[in-house]
Amino acid sequence: MSRARVGTCTLVSEIVAKTESFRASLDKQPHEVASMFDGVAKRYDLTNTVMTGGLDRYWRWATRRALELRPGERVLDLAAGTGVSTLELAKSGAWCVATDFSQGMLAAGRFREVPMVAGDGTALPFANDSFDAVTISYGLRNIADTDEALRELLRVTKPGGRLVIAEFSTPVFAPFRTIYMEFVMRALPRVARTVSSNPDAYVYLAESIRAWPNQPQLAMRIADAGWSAVKWRNLTNGIVALHRAYKLG
Ligand SMILES: C[S@@+](CC[C@H](N)C(=O)[O-])C[C@H]1O[C@@H](n2cnc3c(N)ncnc32)[C@H](O)[C@@H]1O
Repeated sequence: MSRARVGTCTLVSEIVAKTESFRASLDKQPHEVASMFDGVAKRYDLTNTVMTGGLDRYWRWATRRALELRPGERVLDLAAGTGVSTLELAKSGAWCVATDFSQGMLAAGRFREVPMVAGDGTALPFANDSFDAVTISYGLRNIADTDEALRELLRVTKPGGRLVIAEFSTPVFAPFRTIYMEFVMRALPRVARTVSSNPDAYVYLAESIRAWPNQPQLAMRIADAGWSAVKWRNLTNGIVALHRAYKLG
């Protein structure tokens, strides 16, 4: 085999290997996702703030505003992890429960004074029509069956209740989108190596952001699950999108 041919084969096998590891990391089984989050739990909050340059706080504040919570309302924060998202929602005076299937994430946030219930987003441990509002921040992308989670969220919401999803999305300004996707794919895992206890989780994060539906595509998935009046708002040029919808009364 000529040198050029060896070079070509090496390149092709590298591309195949990279594609396979890309698929393997995105096709995680639910127990693999749970154990990945168990692994990053202790430094999760700090890593988030470092990696987003503090923007996570603004995005959480905007999520609470979009939910328009009132004191005394019952709210489910699904995929709540350490409860950092739930604590922000509880500032409204609503009763907010954090649910997640990673015992490690819940344990890392046990010091927070929010109720926590272990549970899987695709088989929620709550009765029909239990909540005035349901929400999920940076978790829907991680749930193996997105559509089932959207249907479960609908089931546990009271008629007339609302949904807000905060999730990484697609920047709307094309030149920025290109730079951002390169940043996410290349820089994020390197930065994570210096601050996270499990940098591989951030390779998964970057890959899953690239593979995630854009704003209109996600809106269609939400509507297909049975939610009404789906709209979205971009934060920070669409790095994050807030999708909002209602359960028909
Ligand atoms: C990126 S964290 C988000 C945590 C928190 N909501 C926040 O805003 O920082 C994603 C969470 O989704 C949880 N998760 C993934 N799949 C899940 C499922 N099927 N059921 C419940 N939680 C799930 C993970 O355990 C993890 O804690």
